[in-house]
Amino acid sequence: MSGARIALLISGRGSNMEAIVHAAKDGVLRDRCTICGVIANRADAAGLARARALGVESRGVPSEGLDTRTYGQRLIAALSDWRPDYVVLAGFMRIISSDLVAAYPGRIVNIHPADTASYQGPDGYGWAAKQRLTETFVTVHLVDEGIDTGPVLRQARVSLKGAETRAQIARRGLAVEHVVYSACLAELLDGRYDDRIARVAAGQGGE
Ligand code: GRF
Repeated sequence: MSGARIALLISGRGSNMEAIVHAAKDGVLRDRCTICGVIANRADAAGLARARALGVESRGVPSEGLDTRTYGQRLIAALSDWRPDYVVLAGFMRIISSDLVAAYPGRIVNIHPADTASYQGPDGYGWAAKQRLTETFVTVHLVDEGIDTGPVLRQARVSLKGAETRAQIARRGLAVEHVVYSACLAELLDGRYDDRIARVAAGQGGE
């Protein structure tokens, strides 16, 4: 692996993290980046063991009981050891503090399991199930100071025909996430989104 240094933040299972690590080893991200480490905000996150099994440095930086600002400082300190160029959120369920956004201006990326224009919140697949949608979207976007408000980099459609329960919808959506996230990161590392990165870095996020 070579190129830009990417740190991944997770909260649980880590299937997106795993897909990105595989893509960096021998997929679309190969020779474009190095995964310098994985941080979980819960010490018991299953994804930490998965990362270790893949040979990636990983550590728990617990967020329990800490406010957003204090936890942001902990993350900034932990991340600085790895000197990442980009911080990639992969199922990270904490709000990103403004200090952290400022520490990596335009350099924090997230995947959201819905169209960010239609639904902002923690459970996009549960929302799609409740709304009885026949299709939904997954969205890769830059992180700015808002919640799910940063510029969209790429969206992918997920057909929900024959998928009704949250579990069925999540299975469909995750399969799409695992492909789209790495593909979008490859485009980002190739410079395709430099204009949007510059906008967020200048404090002019949004669409
Ligand atoms: C994904 O659906 C992601 O979009 C959402 O949380 C889920 C995390 O799954 N924010 P995993 O931990 O990557 O398996």
